[in-house]
Amino acid sequence: MVQASSSSTQPTQPVQAAEHVQTATASDGGAADHGLPLIAVLATGGTIAGVQASATSSSYVAGSISVDQLLASVPQLAGLARLHTEQVANVGSQNMTHAVWQALAARVRALDVDPDVQGVVVTHGTDTLEETAFFLGLTAPTRKPLVLVGAMRPATALSADGPANLFAAVALARHRAAREQGPLVIMNGDIHAARDVQKIAASGINAFASPNGGRIGVMVGVEPLFHGHAQSAFDHFDLDTLGPAAQWPRVAIVYAHADLQADVIDALAAIYDGLVLAGVGDGNATDAALEALKRASAAGVVVVRASRTGSGYVGRGAEVDDSAAGFVAAGELSAQKARVLLMVGLTRTRDPVCLQEIFDRR
Ligand code: SIN
Repeated sequence: MVQASSSSTQPTQPVQAAEHVQTATASDGGAADHGLPLIAVLATGGTIAGVQASATSSSYVAGSISVDQLLASVPQLAGLARLHTEQVANVGSQNMTHAVWQALAARVRALDVDPDVQGVVVTHGTDTLEETAFFLGLTAPTRKPLVLVGAMRPATALSADGPANLFAAVALARHRAAREQGPLVIMNGDIHAARDVQKIAASGINAFASPNGGRIGVMVGVEPLFHGHAQSAFDHFDLDTLGPAAQWPRVAIVYAHADLQADVIDALAAIYDGLVLAGVGDGNATDAALEALKRASAAGVVVVRASRTGSGYVGRGAEVDDSAAGFVAAGELSAQKARVLLMVGLTRTRDPVCLQEIFDRR
C-alpha cells in the first residue's frame, strides 16, 4: 500500500503530497526478502547526507546526497528490512521549516495506517533534530516505531558515523519493543525519548544526551536494550486543525543574559504571538526584562519561562510570580521545545492557565 515519494532532485522544500512522489527503491518489496519487515525511511537532509570536497576536509555541505545514495552506503541494511524511501526534503536542519514539519507529520500519519509498514525512520540534521522529534510527538501519534537519526560527520568523512547510526535506526524501527514510545532518537548507539533529548555538543559523535531523564536505552547489536519506556502520549494536536504552516502562531525565544534590557522584548512582543524566555537559572531575567515580559503578557502575548541552563525544572512561582504576571512555566522542557509546544498550543487557546495545563500534561 505504501506510495513512495522519493525525489530524484534535492528538494529544499517539503513535498506537496503527490507532486514530489515518484516510485522508489529497489528494496521496496521483492521475492528475495523472505518476509523482512518493511521500514519507511523519510529523508530530510542533514550532515548524515552531507558531502565534503575530500574525506579529510573540515567543511562540508549538509543535505547533499539523496536518500537512496545514503542507503546504498549501508548494504548491511538488506539483511534487516525492506526499505521504502521518501525524500521529504534535503536541507541542513538549521533550515528546517514548519512547512517541512507539516509534510513530515502528514507522512508519518499516513504510514501509521499503512498495514504494510512496520516502522518509520526519519533521517535529519542534528541541529534541530530534537525539535522535529518533539513536534512529531505532538502532531503525529503513531503506535509504530518512529525513529529519528542523524550523524555528526558527513557521509563522505573518514569514519563517518552515519552508516552505523542508520543501521541502528532501522534495527530499532523494526523492533516490537520500540512500539508505542512516540518518536525515539538514536545517535551513537544511545536511544533517547523525544521529550528529553538534546543536542548538547557542537562537535564530536557523542553529541546527544537526555539531561533530565537520561537515555532510555542502548542498541546491543541489532537489539534495543531499554532501561525505561518513553511517554508515547503527548497532548496530541490534530494536524488538520493547525492549518497551513505559514499561518501557525509565531513564537520567538528571548535568551537571557546579564544586563538584559527591555527593548528587545518590547520589539518582539509587537510582532510575535508568544515569547519563550530562555532564562538564567530557573527561568529568571533582569527586572527590566521581566517588566517587559509582563507588559507583553498584559497585551495578550503568551510568555513561557524556560531555562538556558540545559537541564533542571522551571516551576511556577519560585522566584517569579507567574500567576500575577500571567506567565507559563516550562517545567523540564528546553526553550526550543517550549517554543514548539507553545506554537501548537496557541492554535487551541491563548489562555495562559489552559496553556499551563498543556505544558503540565506534555
Ligand atoms: C544539520 O543539522 O543539518 C547540520 C548538522 C548535522 O546534521 O550534524
